[in-house]
Amino acid sequence: MKSSRRQILGGVGAIAASGVMTKARAAMGEVSLARLAQAKGVRFGAVAGIAKGGLHDWLMAGLLSTECAIVVPENEMKIYALRPEETGAFNFAPGDEIVAFAQTHTLAVRGHNLLWAKDKYLPKWLLAHDFGPRPKVAAEAFLRDHIARVCAHYGDAIVSWDVVNEAIDEKTGALRDTLFMRLLGQDYLRICFEAAREALPHTQLVYNDYMGWGGNNGAHRQGVLDLMHWFRDQKVPVDALGVQGHIGTEASGPAPTDGSAPDSLAWTRFLDANVAQDYGLLLTEFDVNDRKFEGDITARDAAVAHSGRAFLDVMLNYKQLKDVLCWGLCDRYSWLQSTTPRVDGARLRPTPYDEDFKPKPLRTAMADALRAAPQR
Ligand code: XIL
Repeated sequence: MKSSRRQILGGVGAIAASGVMTKARAAMGEVSLARLAQAKGVRFGAVAGIAKGGLHDWLMAGLLSTECAIVVPENEMKIYALRPEETGAFNFAPGDEIVAFAQTHTLAVRGHNLLWAKDKYLPKWLLAHDFGPRPKVAAEAFLRDHIARVCAHYGDAIVSWDVVNEAIDEKTGALRDTLFMRLLGQDYLRICFEAAREALPHTQLVYNDYMGWGGNNGAHRQGVLDLMHWFRDQKVPVDALGVQGHIGTEASGPAPTDGSAPDSLAWTRFLDANVAQDYGLLLTEFDVNDRKFEGDITARDAAVAHSGRAFLDVMLNYKQLKDVLCWGLCDRYSWLQSTTPRVDGARLRPTPYDEDFKPKPLRTAMADALRAAPQR
């Protein structure tokens, strides 16, 4: 379908006989997830990261270009990565490299993110910055300037932006205590979306968060829903809700140990209430955390596939859901390996491809979910 695959396979002829290559070829023999999704009016994709995401590993790059129609940078467009130095100077190079990769392989690009509302993920210099005698004015000017410059740099190369990420405190459902909340109050959220809309009149603008369907996510869901209502009431230009979909990772809910699906009624009520306000839906960061799953690899993979399929079925049932992206296509480069390691020390298996780029039952479950999904 894409020249990328030919180029990648052709360029590595010398090692084509290796075992890893054979496995990669086997995986690539399937109809791609992008094609299965496209047949239903859905765009399938995944995170592409340079530093941690393996984009410089040709097998990873090959997998992304083969399976995906859209990619999203893992960290490269976050403020702390774009502007690491106290001078505030921009380093667009890593983000540009991901956009160039996508363009070479005719993949669309999502932007992630213009503001991550967690102090942990703001640069230290920004947290320590003196906003002067009129801090509200200076803070608003900083936000507007940052967003305008990032949006202008990427322009139409990015089809959809996570404008604000994770503004709700998962435990209370209240707005999270974060730098711009302290400086500007809730209005910082309006400012972010307005600045993005001003720069990009036609780009999809998304509020992205990790409220989940499991455990005690009720407060988080309610907080996000209240925020989505507030956006509408205040005429803030938000087009869609990004559901991260880190199944089993949701901090406030116990992870199931066997892949069983939680009661999805509260979840569908939450999604219904969002789409009733005419929001689009995206699944932005899907993975299935098996940190608490028991048994051998076969049992764990089956549980991952089972809970992943259950969640995808619920999500794909919404015709407003037009994008499905995995936060990691391959276990080797999943962020969860370092973020939530298993107590038994075994490697996690949260993505559709294993450490050797071999497709796993989750990949089959995803393909089946896409085949079963209603057309949009
Ligand atoms: C994660 C990255 O994968 C890690 O490499 C990084 O250290 C921290 O951030 N929700 C998000 C993503 O919106 O940006 C996070 O990505 C995962 C959770």
